[in-house]
Amino acid sequence: MSDWRSFWDSEHSIYVNARHKDVHYREIADQIAAFVPSPTARVLDYGSGDAIHADRVAAVAAEVTLCDAAPSVRAAMASRFAGNPKIQVIAPEDVAALPDGRLDLIVTNSVAQYLTEDELTRLLAMFRRLLTPNGTLIFADVIPPDVGALSDVTALLRYATRHGFLIAALIGLAKTTVSPYRRIRNTLGIAQYTEAQFMKKLTDAGFAAERLARNMEHNPARMTFRARPV
Ligand SMILES: C[S@@+](CC[C@H](N)C(=O)[O-])C[C@H]1O[C@@H](n2cnc3c(N)ncnc32)[C@H](O)[C@@H]1O
Repeated sequence: MSDWRSFWDSEHSIYVNARHKDVHYREIADQIAAFVPSPTARVLDYGSGDAIHADRVAAVAAEVTLCDAAPSVRAAMASRFAGNPKIQVIAPEDVAALPDGRLDLIVTNSVAQYLTEDELTRLLAMFRRLLTPNGTLIFADVIPPDVGALSDVTALLRYATRHGFLIAALIGLAKTTVSPYRRIRNTLGIAQYTEAQFMKKLTDAGFAAERLARNMEHNPARMTFRARPV
């Protein structure tokens, strides 16, 4: 899905305004922080996006590694967190080069849909290798096959109402219908999994897994899984 990579490396308007981006990344950071097992933990946020509040995770961990496929996203994060010695920004190939058992927590939110099934299989094998025996993988915002654009629209409008950016969200949604995102999604599609299919991907990769009661992101119809090496 190379076009998804170009999309995330471009000036897109997935976040309808600065407030949306701010509350989104703040909430994601706080949820990642809640999964950090101890102040000595080494954490990887894989497919982190802009992660503008990663310092909130770093505040409760020993080390936070941010990885994103998009070079422009990595450059923005590297510049933002240059003064924070606990945060490093690396490319996917650098993650692949990390030693076995390096990480206590790996979180990946809203990434599975942009991967082919083979890419997902390879990623899970790499995560399994990188986690300590007591480590945890959180795989979040996985989209079931019966959850479509209408569910995303409803969830975004509820979220925007709660956080005071409803008008901007309505304008953003109108723009999205003619955006590159919609065009790529119509052409390439996104990867979707039932709960059973995703659980099987995790168990086949050597994890014991469970679906959590609540999704990490704002659409409750999407799924978050917690997995531990077996
Ligand atoms: C929907 S955004 C999610 C960003 C962030 N995790 C969040 O919670 O908002 C998807 C991100 O995954 C990144 N991505 C997609 N495929 C990837 C891959 N194979 N390896 C690393 N990052 C990837 C994209 O560049 C993009 O920044």
